[in-house]
Amino acid sequence: MVNKEERQIHIIAKDIINQFSIVLKTSLIHDPGNVAVRTAIEKLLILINPLIESERTILIELMGEFFYINGSRIRYSLEYLLNFDFLVKEFKKRAIGSVLFRNIVEPEDIQLFLKAFIDSGFSEEPYETMLNRMSESHTIGIDRLKKIAVGLKKIAVGEDMDRRKIIKRTYFNAVSYIKGVITKIRSGEKVNIKKAKRLVETIVDQLLEEEHVLLSMTAIKDYDEYTYHHSVNVSILSIALSQRLGLNKKVLTELGLVALFHDIGKVEIPQDVLNKPTSFTEDEWKLIKMHPIWGVMAILKLRSFDNTAIRSVIVAFEHHINIDFSGYPQVRKYKELDLYSKIVCLADQFDAMTSSRVYSRIPMSPDKALSVMMERSGVDLDPLLFKFFINMVGVFPIGTLVMLDTKELGLVYESNAVFADRPRVLIIIDNKGKKVRGPVVSLTEKDETRRYLRSIVKILDLNKYKINLAEYLL
Ligand SMILES: [Fe+2]
Ligand SMILES: [Fe+2]
Repeated sequence: MVNKEERQIHIIAKDIINQFSIVLKTSLIHDPGNVAVRTAIEKLLILINPLIESERTILIELMGEFFYINGSRIRYSLEYLLNFDFLVKEFKKRAIGSVLFRNIVEPEDIQLFLKAFIDSGFSEEPYETMLNRMSESHTIGIDRLKKIAVGLKKIAVGEDMDRRKIIKRTYFNAVSYIKGVITKIRSGEKVNIKKAKRLVETIVDQLLEEEHVLLSMTAIKDYDEYTYHHSVNVSILSIALSQRLGLNKKVLTELGLVALFHDIGKVEIPQDVLNKPTSFTEDEWKLIKMHPIWGVMAILKLRSFDNTAIRSVIVAFEHHINIDFSGYPQVRKYKELDLYSKIVCLADQFDAMTSSRVYSRIPMSPDKALSVMMERSGVDLDPLLFKFFINMVGVFPIGTLVMLDTKELGLVYESNAVFADRPRVLIIIDNKGKKVRGPVVSLTEKDETRRYLRSIVKILDLNKYKINLAEYLL
């Protein structure tokens, strides 16, 4: 359980990264002496100096796509997404891996840093230029970016990263959209549904090309705002499942849209109930169980009565009913659930079980969630669709921590549709027990004697090993 104080530091840390990015951004547009730059610097100092006073130093590190402050990873936050990405880009451009603040920082120290930063942007050896200029400073030091290991053979992590970036943007655009929708519905504003269609079309296109990247976005369960990510995850999982059923692109898009809005009725539930870290009281459960009906009303209020809207109404209403009608809302004389509802229901349960909704609730590992669902299959979950679902997420779902017979530990990176037990794996601990990033290896690789180079020995618990998926998959 994260205590209040730690959370507080976490919030400040996020703001520090954000403000640091703003300072650099502003200094690239304006002259260093400009009032906009000076104000941005002042704001930064207000954030960092108290922390330096209590912690003595502040170390900002970049690892992969992530920032760490004094060793603790900063959560990816939607509102700061652009500024974080900007900072990552500028650090990488100059091969800066970390910035250390050693003493109480004065505006002049930052100004010195900014000048070095700007000049190094034009230099052929940006890191050396930067280091050279910073050697004058007693307050701020920098260190070089550590290289990420490149994969064996053709599988280069670098190349993969670029495609990942584009897809990551799509994913976060969708999350940000659904957040906007929910905020607007709460305040009674008009919602732009057309935008949702374009977003889902992009998701479908990218999923048809790079399914595993989008699926790995859904495997990261460490985001700040569960409800929004959940909606997008359910949409992606539903599309991926239906693609396996051979449904056409038009249907995939419609289903993706419908899935995106499946929990829209939750707008009516107070946020402190939704985000409650402890279990719900009976009264709170009553509220939660109303969200399918409130969903119907919310969609009808959007006033676009086409086919998709009708299917959305059905799915919002049906996604917790279960095939044996054991769920909620309770229904009498019901024929059969809509196909979309059955699909969304599977995606919904899998994502909900594997998510940590709030700081203190520990998520179930993907393989555990599948085995729970296996028990329900044929009882309250559609057994045939569930078979397709298992085939999609794989026997070893993306993000599963596995031990290999080489004593290496790795994360399942991409499932293998043909050889289900031989996915691609990102090595994160090498055979000497050292933490590494990559390579990505395919478990189908064999040596000269046609024996497999690596095989999975067992599945390990991510939480026990304190491994953060986002750090590796984002
Ligand atoms: Fe729901
Ligand atoms: Fe849901």
